[in-house]
Parts: sequence; C-alpha cells; structure tokens
Amino acid sequence: MKFYVLNGPNINMLGIREPDIYGRLDYKGLLAYIAAGAKELGVEVDFYQSNSEGDLVSAIQQALGRYDGIVINPAAYTHTSVAILDALKAVDLPAAEVHISDVTKREAFRQVSYAGMACKYHFVGEGKEGYVHALERLAGEVSGALRILHALPAAAWREAGAAGELMPAPGQAYIHCSPIEYFHRVDAARFAGRPHVLLAIDPARVEAPVRWENGAPAQDAPRYYPHVYGPVPAAAITDAVPLRFDAAGRWLRDPRLPALADR
Ligand code: DQA
Repeated sequence: MKFYVLNGPNINMLGIREPDIYGRLDYKGLLAYIAAGAKELGVEVDFYQSNSEGDLVSAIQQALGRYDGIVINPAAYTHTSVAILDALKAVDLPAAEVHISDVTKREAFRQVSYAGMACKYHFVGEGKEGYVHALERLAGEVSGALRILHALPAAAWREAGAAGELMPAPGQAYIHCSPIEYFHRVDAARFAGRPHVLLAIDPARVEAPVRWENGAPAQDAPRYYPHVYGPVPAAAITDAVPLRFDAAGRWLRDPRLPALADR
C-alpha cells in the first residue's frame, strides 16, 4: 500500500516560519517523522512539496494509478484553490487533509477549505502527528480494516437486532460514531447507570453517507467523528461487545475489536 504525502507553499520553511504556530521541527524532520510512522504502519510513502499551485495540481493528477491515497496539506492554497479541489475530485483517490495548526481558531480567511471538500478525513491542529494519523486512517480504509464504533443501551441494541438495522434516533439526522482511538478518551459517566453495547461497524458496508464531521465543542481542538446519515444494516456490524470501563473510568478495550492502532 502506497500513499502520496503532499505539502503546499511555505511548508518547506517549517522550523523557521512562525514557530509559535508551526513549531520548531523543520521540513526534513517532518518527513523523517512521517516516514517512521509509515514504517510502523507497514505502508510506503512518497513525499512532494511545492510552492506553486499548478505543480500541486500536477502531482495530484500523477497520483492516479500510482498511489492508494493522498495525504495533503495544501497550506495557504487550502483557502483559495478550486484547482486543487478539482484535481482531488478528478483522481477520486481516498484523501485526507492535514493542517499542522488549528486553523479553526485562526483568521476568518482560513475558515474555508476548498481541498477539504474533496477529502473524507481531516486532521487539524494535531501538529506533525496529524500526518501519521491520516496515513493510519487511509490504510484502514484501503485495507478494509477500518471500523467505526457506536455505543448504545443494551435495550436499544435488542430493538435494532429485531429490526435488522440500526436507525438514527428519532429527530436525529445521523448516527454518531467514533473512530476507535477516540474511545480511549470517552467520558465513562455518559454511559453510567445502564448497560451499553459497543458496536464495531464496517463503514464500507454502509450504504448511507458516512461524513466525518467536527463534533468538538467550539473552544476545543477539532475532532472529526463519522456520522452515518441513514441506517446501518446488520451486515455492516462486525462486532458487538459490552462497553466496559475500569474503576478510574478508562475504557476497557475488548480484544475482539479489530487491531487498529489506538492512541
Ligand atoms: C496550514 C494552515 C494554513 O492556513 C496556512 O496557510 C499554512 C499551513 C497548517 O498546516 O496549519 O501554510 O495548512
């Protein structure tokens, strides 16, 4: 499995440019960090950086037939480039958008992401780690190992079993799910009082749209949760395990859940 990691203008100036925003790691160090992460994930990566919009468009076009997916930080072109958006749509490869800084807390002109409209996954404000998280997510999607989790009261799960599918709750447009790694930070108190079941869902077997949307409170760093806009058929549910926490409120991961890296 091979991914193309693209970086836009001024990312080559990392370490020098606005270190309070982008940190002190330089571009070479960033690539070494991503390469090490890719190795751990068992995926291949090629890198490309350009300060010019057209070259980035060409690089995206060249990814077709050569790569299984694209990780892209279009930098300033994020907020201006319809050409990069169109190129991503044209090749239609699984794509993840990365921003080192939390653009959601910055200037108004950074609040639109054209490229992001063609990316299923978004990693914003996670620094260098966002790139590796993006590779991990894409590798999960391409290999078919990606699962999204949904916790629900045991009684509701029995009802869904009888219906043969899980539906969004009445009055809700979607079923709120989480990637596995977010469950390590879930608030146990939310589930206290009655037994809950944790479902592992294969998003590839869900026909309804699955949109990864920021569900974090406005003051927090963005966190993108998979929202399923329609039913989850029984055939898409690959595991159903009890939702359990230890005495300190930490999630007790059930060994039956697929072995995606957890953070
Ligand atoms: C950036 C955010 C952009 O708004 C900015 O123009 C960049 C870098 C980031 O990684 O945080 O150059 O994409």
